Amino acid sequence: MRFFSPAKLNLFFRVVKKRGDGYHAIASLYQAIDLGDTLDVEPAEKDSLTCTDPVVPLDFTNLVLKAADLFRRKTGCNIHAKFHLEKKIPMQAGLGGGSSNAATTLWALNELADKPATTEELIHWSGEIGSDIGFFFSQGTAYCTGRGEQIHPLPSLPHTSLWLAKPSYGLSTPLVYQNCDLSLFPIRNPADILIDFLEGNPLYFNDLEIPAFQLAPELLSYKQQLLSAGFEQVTMTGSGTAFFCLGIGG
Ligand code: C5P
Repeated sequence: MRFFSPAKLNLFFRVVKKRGDGYHAIASLYQAIDLGDTLDVEPAEKDSLTCTDPVVPLDFTNLVLKAADLFRRKTGCNIHAKFHLEKKIPMQAGLGGGSSNAATTLWALNELADKPATTEELIHWSGEIGSDIGFFFSQGTAYCTGRGEQIHPLPSLPHTSLWLAKPSYGLSTPLVYQNCDLSLFPIRNPADILIDFLEGNPLYFNDLEIPAFQLAPELLSYKQQLLSAGFEQVTMTGSGTAFFCLGIGG
């Protein structure tokens, strides 16, 4: 069976506070996009993973294999599969590729095993292996809080064309979070920003740009080049290094 595994953007991303458990409380408007991977899943005696992109790790660090293991542990189903990933979503981009693949794996195994789990259970379990896997069970637009795993589904936003830009290098999510100095982030109330957004007054921003630009100063000039090229809005998604660009050429 073949499944589509979309990328996501964070249309706005607020880091609210550092939590006691090492994570950060966030508030972000997540949106799935047309760019995505495809995952072929075929029942097999044991798990195996292949991928079109040679850079993608194929061992247990890959969230596809972690999700398969999680599914078996939680449901008690002894289902294994041969997974083949056609990779289109770049890694270390903030586009949620690994998380999306994990959600797709949970969904696919649940289908193949005749649905032993509810979607709510899959969302709940997914929090054990990643903070933003749960979003990918939504219809595509959601306001996410907590460490990203609290999903508040929203009606679809108007269809919009945009450009994605990513430099050749990536950034590690834990490193970007570790480098957060919350006193540098503008004080903004995410609930107000969400209301404005839904009323047609979008504010695109990402608090994680500050630590990301400190870690990779060339990212700031990368963003400035995109703005000088004529885009009206250039905003990093997640922990980077991809940017979504709005307002040029149509
Ligand atoms: O949950 P996920 O595996 O995506 O998180 C990777 C790392 O990013 C965490 O171990 C943590 O260091 C950091 N993180 C965070 N706050 C979040 C999400 C992730 O500090 N809300």
